[in-house]
Amino acid sequence: MKPSSSTPLLRVRGVAKRYGDQVALHEASFDLWPGEVLAVVGESGSGKTTLLNAIAARTAPDAGSVEFLGRDGLLQDVHTMSQAQQRLLARTDWGFVHQNPADGLRMDVSAGANVGERLMGLGERHYGRLRCTAEEWLQRVEIDPIRIDDAPRTFSGGMRQRLQIARNLVTQPRLIFMDEPTSGLDVSVQARLLDLMRQLTRQMHLAAIIVTHDLAVARLLAHRMMVMQRGRVVEAGLTDQVLDDPQHPYTQLLVSSVLQP
Ligand SMILES: Nc1ncnc2c1ncn2[C@@H]1O[C@H](COP(=O)(O)OP(=O)(O)OP(=O)(O)O)[C@@H](O)[C@H]1O
Ligand SMILES: [Mg+2]
Repeated sequence: MKPSSSTPLLRVRGVAKRYGDQVALHEASFDLWPGEVLAVVGESGSGKTTLLNAIAARTAPDAGSVEFLGRDGLLQDVHTMSQAQQRLLARTDWGFVHQNPADGLRMDVSAGANVGERLMGLGERHYGRLRCTAEEWLQRVEIDPIRIDDAPRTFSGGMRQRLQIARNLVTQPRLIFMDEPTSGLDVSVQARLLDLMRQLTRQMHLAAIIVTHDLAVARLLAHRMMVMQRGRVVEAGLTDQVLDDPQHPYTQLLVSSVLQP
């Protein structure tokens, strides 16, 4: 995706994190442009979730900076802003889709309330409008609106994940973070969800950072990808280039292990 302006949506510089003596993330730097989908791939323990959480201001990094382009056109450091500002960002311009839908949904309140909650957080109080928007979003993520009063507890895994996506996208965020959004699902359910995610990111000009261990997810969704190994970004580039002509031995190993029967 061509950058639509000269300022990135997200500017990450030298973000690092250690847990005790162990370095979970060596300095990572990259830019993300509006509407761009970036996949972060790598083996278990390579630091993908650590990176994602540090960028999404869910944990504080030990070093480095993460700047986000506000609607006012200014880059703002997400780690130096107040907690109130972080929370506002998290429920308006950002979305976060958890691997386990139970971490991102309220399992015992209705699907409609799950979708409406972020809108209410922004001040929408009109019941009819909230319900109407929730119905629209259920439809967009291919959940029958007849289920609007049912709790996600009664939904299948794939439905829960689609509801989590609807709940996040209802405020028209500009950036969504996803940590292994498809990994708990059956292959056929995964394929449908990936299709939906591809459609929505394109329709909404939504930028996304998707953590995945599945190269097929990166191939299908991402414009660019980063490969991580032991807390370091060892390769980064356009998805097709990285997958078709991997340069780093670890990426070569990843790609060839997928190709082997
Ligand atoms: N809260 C924590 N306390 C201590 N060490 C941690 C913590 N979270 C992560 N780590 C360590 O940091 C390193 C990176 O972990 P991280 O969860 O970022 O990996 P990951 O790439 O997301 O792996 P996976 O694919 O298994 O989710 C690992 O060695 C892990 O043990
Ligand atoms: Mg992880």
